[in-house]
Amino acid sequence: MSTLRLGVNIDHVATLRQARYATMPESKNAEPDPIAIASICERAGAHGITAHLRADRRHMQDRDLERLRANVMTKLNLEMGNTAGIIDFALRIVPDEVCVVPEKREEITTEGGLDLIAHARELRSTVKRLHAAGIRVSMFIDPVREQVDAAGELGADIVELHTGKLANAFTEKFARQELERLREAAMHAHNLNLQVNAGHGINYHNIVSIHKIPHLTELNIGHSIVSRAAFIGFEAAVREMLGLMENYQG
Ligand code: PXP
Repeated sequence: MSTLRLGVNIDHVATLRQARYATMPESKNAEPDPIAIASICERAGAHGITAHLRADRRHMQDRDLERLRANVMTKLNLEMGNTAGIIDFALRIVPDEVCVVPEKREEITTEGGLDLIAHARELRSTVKRLHAAGIRVSMFIDPVREQVDAAGELGADIVELHTGKLANAFTEKFARQELERLREAAMHAHNLNLQVNAGHGINYHNIVSIHKIPHLTELNIGHSIVSRAAFIGFEAAVREMLGLMENYQG
């Protein structure tokens, strides 16, 4: 049995703040404060805090990440697209980990994994630069053998397997197939000595299926925890998820 670690993605705390205060970021009324929420999540037992600095700054702002860097006591994981300005930003604030994700402006959330084969040249240089700054690098990929191989070849430390298709599966058959793909990708990544994380669409119900994926180290969960927190508060929402992650067989 191994401890499955929880990274709480707090983007949607910033989404709520931006809904009212996007044009008044310095207002003393600007709430809720993602940094205060991050501390509550950590106090409740979260093993890390994750935030995505998007090109359009629709939720997290540069200042949020600077403050998170100064305040997060556990581990800060910055999700980001592989673009020059954001890479420079990461090198300036030096998060503990970076998870490179694909990013399209028009999508509501990250929709698919990054294609490491198509973008190998640019990614290789990004991995080198982040490593030189002491930042561990994760690649958010679909559970596909060739993508796992590419992550290994690029020198990534971690793969985060995209669980969105499993989470949103409409039929039992599709869920079974997707779970099998995730299981195979996890085993392959583990054999290549990559740390295996998972994320996207994980909630208080489908977490049962996530337990069937071997070799996981960490889950990154955002939307469902923020939603549950609207009812019971962040401390209880994080504790409840941690409870459901217990007894992971690995
Ligand atoms: N992991 C990655 C790479 C993501 O892009 C996201 C969404 O921002 C998550 C995890 C969290 O997904 P969700 O909000 O559906 O839990």
